[in-house]
Amino acid sequence: MRTHNCGELRKKDIKTKVILSGWAHRIRDKGKVIWIDIRDRYGITQLIFEEEFSGSKTFNLAKKCGREFVIKIEGEVSERLSNNPNLDTGDIEIKVFNIEYLNKSEVPPFTIEDETDGGEDLRMKYRYLDLRRAPLQKNIMLRHSLMQETRIYLNSQNFLEIETPVLIKSTPEGARDFIVPSRMNKGQFYALPQSPQTFKQLLMVSGFDKYYQLVKCFRDEDLRADRQPEFTQIDCEMSFVDRENVLQNFGGLISHLFKNILDKDLGDIPVMQYDDVIKHYGTDKPDLRFGMRFNDITSIVQGKGFKVFDDSEIILSINIEGCSNYTRKQIDEITDFVKTPQIGSKGLVYIKNNEDGTIKSSVDKFYSTDDLKMIVDENNSNPSDLILILAGDEKQTISAMSSLRLLMGDRLNLRDPEIFNPVWVINFPLVAWDEESKRYHAMHHPFTSPIKDDIDLLNSNPEKVRANAYDLVINGVEIGGGSIRIHDRKLQEKVFETLGFTNEEAYNQFGFLLDAFKYGTPPHGGIAFGFDRLCALFSGQESIRDFIAFPKNTSGRDVMINTPSEIDSDQLKELGL
Ligand code: AMO
Repeated sequence: MRTHNCGELRKKDIKTKVILSGWAHRIRDKGKVIWIDIRDRYGITQLIFEEEFSGSKTFNLAKKCGREFVIKIEGEVSERLSNNPNLDTGDIEIKVFNIEYLNKSEVPPFTIEDETDGGEDLRMKYRYLDLRRAPLQKNIMLRHSLMQETRIYLNSQNFLEIETPVLIKSTPEGARDFIVPSRMNKGQFYALPQSPQTFKQLLMVSGFDKYYQLVKCFRDEDLRADRQPEFTQIDCEMSFVDRENVLQNFGGLISHLFKNILDKDLGDIPVMQYDDVIKHYGTDKPDLRFGMRFNDITSIVQGKGFKVFDDSEIILSINIEGCSNYTRKQIDEITDFVKTPQIGSKGLVYIKNNEDGTIKSSVDKFYSTDDLKMIVDENNSNPSDLILILAGDEKQTISAMSSLRLLMGDRLNLRDPEIFNPVWVINFPLVAWDEESKRYHAMHHPFTSPIKDDIDLLNSNPEKVRANAYDLVINGVEIGGGSIRIHDRKLQEKVFETLGFTNEEAYNQFGFLLDAFKYGTPPHGGIAFGFDRLCALFSGQESIRDFIAFPKNTSGRDVMINTPSEIDSDQLKELGL
């Protein structure tokens, strides 16, 4: 049905007779001449019809051809009079002497163009048409390449790709499970895996010392741009490794992907302590494409009679290079931002470190020039910089400052999607107190090993115990996370106890794992990368949705197949529901 695809013909092919098949993308009928752009996943080629060389039958069919008709043409490649530099095939066109409709099409509900006129809902309902658009085709092809390169790298390192079951029992990754009722075991349920965590650990017990899987995971949680209820992980586990081995191996994977897909050298990936990233950036997912580290100026500014600061738990500042000339209006915009309910700050204080050496602030009434100079020095601020200050209770202020930092990064175009700054964040806290359930919950998951030196603190001060866990963060996105696991049954029981499980509960849920630990479990550790996030990152985008062929919308629905949906009463009865 075709001798070539729609993206490959060039000047060198002029005079060649070709057959192309594809979709009628754009049609321009100028009376005596008709142009049709024919499209497939490889590109677009211009077809030209004139009665003289096409013959009247073909010419008339071309006249009646509608958008998105599937056509097959025969013709001869010829030079284009005015070439189109935006098209790979822009130097040529095909003089068509035969056209066949392989299938007609109704007028699609939105245009199949890079910038379509279709709204979100419509595009999701007709996802198969949306997927015809070049940007989405590009995304899906990028996904394919990333998948293949992942396999190439891991296979070359002797990893085995092993599948694990999808109908399982609850896994504790911290979200809610999707539940599947069992017809054969009425009143009982499977859960879909939030990750293959326990299975990959069991594979280590079995001796498959290097495992990976490109695997679907399911989490019933609130959706955001970088979250889908079903998503894909590059899930990995290794035996006989410590943290350095794991970071080395999977830093290698990520570098391989950047090199082979984007031709970028990542260099050595820096490692930062959790405590430090929180202190400097207010988040465990720092965007390191730009500076603006936090400076805690609490001790410098309190006790000078400014009540707002005196009543605050913490006062933080960041230095914005080259912005001392910000206008009243610009400062107001930033102030409005920090006062929005999501950010929740009461106000914003600024210091202008002017180019002429003068220092001017919004709190001059309370602070002398010398006081302000101290803040300027603490911020390593240079003339022509602007210092922004937030104050309040500690948790809220840290998080607000983190948002403000990102806003300023955006405003100053410091978050270039073509620059990639990865960092390993290590030594997360093992547990965090959950006010609602009044118990500790695992920051990563309950199989994460504490740092050896901190094990004794499990009894006295669990919140101070550091986990031997690590996240890979790139440009402020958590791309992957993992840990060295507990492989000792007694320690695993102890951690369950810290997490408030009774012995019976622990055995009920994870008896299989605790049992396995009786039979010679090797030291092991691993990681899982969010594959959809990786795809979006490689494309410089935040939303993962358009890197998944058939995603769910923000309410967790697939509006194309209309699910979730009710099931009929017979089916319910059969399931004992
Ligand atoms: P974690 O829960 O950190 O670790 O998940 C690993 C990575 O998966 C991605 N991710 C998601 N992507 C899209 N939509 C979601 N709803 C979603 N949730 C998570 C993130 C995240 O970093 N079993 C452990 C890994 C291990 O310890 O080896 C786990 O699943 O990029």
